[in-house]
Amino acid sequence: MKKRILVTGGTGFIGSHTSVELIESGYDVVIVDNLSNSKADVIYGIEKITGIRPAFEQVDCTDLPALENVLRKYQPIEGIIHFAASKAVGESVKEPLKYYRNNTVSTINLLELMPQFGIKGFIFSSSCTVYGQPNTENLPVRETSPRQDAESPYGNTKKIDEDIITDFCKSGAPIQAILLRYFNPIGAHPTAIIGELPNGVPANLIPYLTQTAIGIRECLSVFGDDYNTPDGSCIRDYIYIVDLAKAHVAAMERILNGKSDKQVDIFNIGTGTGVSVLELIHTFEKCTGVKLNYKIVGRRAGDIEQVWGNVDKANKILGWHATHTLEDALSSAWKWQQKLRADGVM
Ligand code: WQD
Repeated sequence: MKKRILVTGGTGFIGSHTSVELIESGYDVVIVDNLSNSKADVIYGIEKITGIRPAFEQVDCTDLPALENVLRKYQPIEGIIHFAASKAVGESVKEPLKYYRNNTVSTINLLELMPQFGIKGFIFSSSCTVYGQPNTENLPVRETSPRQDAESPYGNTKKIDEDIITDFCKSGAPIQAILLRYFNPIGAHPTAIIGELPNGVPANLIPYLTQTAIGIRECLSVFGDDYNTPDGSCIRDYIYIVDLAKAHVAAMERILNGKSDKQVDIFNIGTGTGVSVLELIHTFEKCTGVKLNYKIVGRRAGDIEQVWGNVDKANKILGWHATHTLEDALSSAWKWQQKLRADGVM
């Protein structure tokens, strides 16, 4: 019998790509999503890619009784991968209580229900945002690098969730958890059947960039070129979404195969390479042949200057590596944007 995995936020960008990789690795997937920031028809995209339609329940993870009903309906469930969260940095500054409630209560509910249904593995979608702005001599950041004060309520909820999971495990809970701290997920599935589809005006760089390239947006604003970096623009670790999705399968398998020697473990999931905004733009132009209309404007509040990850631990212990290049990721993002245009989506 196939092992069943619950994926919260599974119709979202990272959740949908992870669901594809889980199914293709032989797992049975149940998606729970409240559709606050995604569309249910993503499950048909997952089916088109894999030939298998995942079970789907439109449930908000802050609704404990509804969540309990889902776990009861689909038991036995071996593990949970928890993506469901609000994740817009700017919005979290304006609506902190929404973020603290949604992002922490959902985690608490899942943890509370796991022992009752004999669920063993918990993979949490954490973020490099917990590192804040590392001292440049401490780059690339390691899992042992200090967490710093969050730049936003969103980032703070990631730190708080990490602590909630850790303290629950330390209390003797019969579960094992892995926290995956990812950097900047970008790109789309190579089939261009699923990808990143933000609501409204994109806050993140890549969707805004591809929407500019296809003519939806007039011009891409580069938020600052006066940082203390080689070309003055901010540096990030951009990881291809399918590589990131595969890391979740590797983490879950480490727990389910009894290989995890810690009750809670932490892994950086990135490429290990920092890329500046301007380098990324030039790489996009080179690999797509599309000239991008952009201009330099002032810095964006809350932006950190530079962060990228040391990923040796995930390479060695998870046996996972980012295998795609920045060119691969950007080409997939462009192919996805062109598909959205061809399908009349935008
Ligand atoms: C990247 C770089 C901007 C838009 C994101 C999410 C956060 C977390 C980590 C998951 C920055 C610059 C952007 C634009 C620009 N995700 N930029 N013009 O801020 O690193 O964080 O990934 O946990 O939730 O927000 O990503 O794509 O917004 O910005 O110049 O129109 O691109 O200044 O240097 P960020 P981003």
